[in-house]
Amino acid sequence: MVKNKASNIISNHDQQGDNPMEESRRLTASDDLEISTYLEIAEEKRGKAPLVSSQKRLHRESIIIVDFGSQYSRLIARRIRENQVYSEIVSHDTDWETIESLQPKGVILSGGPASVYDPEAPLAPSWVFDKGLPVLGICYGMQVIAHQLGGSVAPSQKREYGHSVVYQDTKSDPLFTDISKSMPVWMSHGDKINELPPGFQSIGYSDNSPVAVFVGDESRYGIQFHPEVVHTPEGQQLIKNFLFEICGLKGLWTSSNFAARAIKDIKAKVGGGKVVCALSGGVDSSVAATLVHRAIGDQLTCIFVNNGLLRKEESERILSTFKRHLKVNLIYKDATDEFLSALENVSDPEEKRKIIGEQFIKLFEREAKKLGDADYLCQGTLYPDVIESETDESKVSVKIKTHHNVGGLPKHMQLKLIEPLRYLFKDEVRKVGLELGLSKELVNRQPFPGPGLAIRIIGPVTKEKLETLREADWVVMDEIKGNNLYESLWQSFAVLTDTKSVGVVGDHRLYGYTIAIRAVTSDDAMTADWARLPYEVLSTISNRISNEVNGVSRVVYDITSKPPGTIEWE
Ligand code: XMP
Repeated sequence: MVKNKASNIISNHDQQGDNPMEESRRLTASDDLEISTYLEIAEEKRGKAPLVSSQKRLHRESIIIVDFGSQYSRLIARRIRENQVYSEIVSHDTDWETIESLQPKGVILSGGPASVYDPEAPLAPSWVFDKGLPVLGICYGMQVIAHQLGGSVAPSQKREYGHSVVYQDTKSDPLFTDISKSMPVWMSHGDKINELPPGFQSIGYSDNSPVAVFVGDESRYGIQFHPEVVHTPEGQQLIKNFLFEICGLKGLWTSSNFAARAIKDIKAKVGGGKVVCALSGGVDSSVAATLVHRAIGDQLTCIFVNNGLLRKEESERILSTFKRHLKVNLIYKDATDEFLSALENVSDPEEKRKIIGEQFIKLFEREAKKLGDADYLCQGTLYPDVIESETDESKVSVKIKTHHNVGGLPKHMQLKLIEPLRYLFKDEVRKVGLELGLSKELVNRQPFPGPGLAIRIIGPVTKEKLETLREADWVVMDEIKGNNLYESLWQSFAVLTDTKSVGVVGDHRLYGYTIAIRAVTSDDAMTADWARLPYEVLSTISNRISNEVNGVSRVVYDITSKPPGTIEWE
């Protein structure tokens, strides 16, 4: 499961297919991820194999999700965790030794695109049936149970996709506790159970599936529908029944338990060692650093490189949170001049990104060197990065290296990784952040790209343009927050375009900049929709920018969704 984190940073070019017109080489990474990617690439360039977290995960109870390639596996994990039960996704060839310490109390077999009767079809590892654990097979997972335990599966006459209703065919079963006798469900399958395995019985059917739910010895269940999606309204109850009625779980996994455990683990792992952390002010590195700080106090040093491309008052806010409020050992390096002179006259967005990456490594290295020998590097890697790195690993990491031709870290820095958030989803990280006493404002912060305002200024970056954009961006943020829109938006910001137009200020004409406002809703930044901001809010933003920001003569609103547009303009 644990692979090279750098590999999950996929260029947009890869995601959107080949475009012969123009090579896009952007990182779709969050700011925190981008910093850690620079660091990791630098490590690899030194000839070092990617570092992985060797931390053994210990849990008192968990559910293991065996993934057969379903697009919904992450959703299953989240649904389980919403019930305070720890769950982890593993690939179908994972052995028992790898997961034993998680103390699985049940297994979920995910859906998947294959057909069990294909010779290449992925099947469940033997421990799924040997350990006597309760099993819930979802869709393809159900067919896997049937196939491996002596039943049979065959192509269905009719592919069943979309809404359906499952009728219970039993007096009672713990899986159906508090569930309607006829339950609306979401189906998506082309195969069906032809013959039940010995000892199994059907306990639910739909119009197209005579066996839509089955149960066998040792609490092995199969369901032909997807309980994890919102289109199955009673799906969450069914998952709850599996966890608590069938697997007998207690629901011990809470953010406070997580934080206590992570702090204990970090203490044990680091001992008397030294840890460095590149702080960006983003949610992930902030929460990771706070956890490490709780565990080892002054053995942690954070390095915050101000690249001069941050928003108004941002560096002050980071300093005040970490240095004054949390009392973290923090090295602050204002490198504005270095970054701006390296970016002088550079217009190409990819060139900007490359220069910023190189500068960052150079400065981080210089500051870290002053600390003497550090043992660990703390990073805010999240679970989706880990899951994603399972796939297409080598292909993607090779591409990234060519994108970021950055220099290596000094030879004496043999850094091992500490990634305390490696098994958390973003919303769980936010909960842990709140638990640790970080402010709501920091914890719910919108993503901000690593290259900062440099990729929101079209054309070369100058001090004057940065000032103009900072002021305009401040107005956008002020109005978005003032109108309680901040948390409903994925991102909202201003862009300084390279278009000038004529405006009238007082009684003279101004040939000034055009500011574009961008506000989008999204779940994961892979797709996004332009936000239908109220006209009144747009009007106030426009008036305020025109009146309060020097040199701006026009304000426009970007109504492009992604795809085809990207969220950032560069
Ligand atoms: P796009 O513009 O590709 O953005 O739709 C998707 C998400 O990625 C962020 N982004 C970046 N983050 N370095 C980063 O750390 C980058 O070079 C970069 N480019 C885009 C963007 O803000 C959005 O959240």
